[in-house]
Amino acid sequence: MIVLSRKISFAAAHRYYQKSFSEEENERVFGRCYTPHGHGHNYVLEVSVQGEVDPQTGMVINLVDLDTILKEVVDPLDHHHLNFDVPAFVELVPTTENIAWHCFSEIKKRLPKGVTLHRARLYESDDLWADYYGP
Ligand code: NI
Repeated sequence: MIVLSRKISFAAAHRYYQKSFSEEENERVFGRCYTPHGHGHNYVLEVSVQGEVDPQTGMVINLVDLDTILKEVVDPLDHHHLNFDVPAFVELVPTTENIAWHCFSEIKKRLPKGVTLHRARLYESDDLWADYYGP
């Protein structure tokens, strides 16, 4: 078994807002992230896949296929306002944790047989990231 990791970056805007909270609660809980029009980040998604090395290709997963999968998952987020443009985040607060979970789920269902998703790590910035290991 070996773990292969690949990074892909995207830019997106978000806002932290919980519909079930009052405006005051939202502001108190989320602080500056509550700002009504949101703000942007340059996210970096780091994906680690695990599997056996194919003796003929020397790869765990064909890198072309992995890049295609990552592009499919990240394109709908790139240069979008997550709260408004991405159905998954209309109700779900687009935190680093939840975006990591979302990317993990979307990648997992696209991986070929025999390749498992070990981890999705999402960097919101150099000093903030979330790791999701499944399920
Ligand atoms: Ni933010």
